[in-house]
Amino acid sequence: MNKIPAATLRRLEKAARTAARKSYSPYSKFAVGAAVLTVSGKIYAGCNVENASYGLCNCAERTAIFSAVATGHKTLRAVAVFTPTPLPTMPCGACRQVINEFGPQALVVSVCDSAQRIETTLDALLPAAFGPRDLG
Ligand code: THU
Repeated sequence: MNKIPAATLRRLEKAARTAARKSYSPYSKFAVGAAVLTVSGKIYAGCNVENASYGLCNCAERTAIFSAVATGHKTLRAVAVFTPTPLPTMPCGACRQVINEFGPQALVVSVCDSAQRIETTLDALLPAAFGPRDLG
């Protein structure tokens, strides 16, 4: 399922970069954007949304995923994340678990302030994941 056309991936990455501009991150000042590609071909974007009660901060990846799910799109083909860093970074552990729920085979693409990028898979980032099937 996962040969995604290069042009689609570029669009996804661009959506992640653009979403970072909407980041609400007054505490970390680390503006992250993410975008997900669903099996229906739609792209949903999100940013990190922080809170004065720090533990309530929501990562960009989860904002994007929750937006897709809330619109009725529950199966992810790919997730792109943009971080304002010289090197690409990977989704945090909590986001990996949430990606697993909706896209255990998803491609994960990380982009950053430089031309460097990483393409990997959720399966490589969270091997032997606990997921919906374990609940029977
Ligand atoms: N953050 C994300 O949104 N996604 C990541 O992949 C890494 C971390 C956010 C959470 C918090 O708002 C800020 O970046 C600093 O950790």
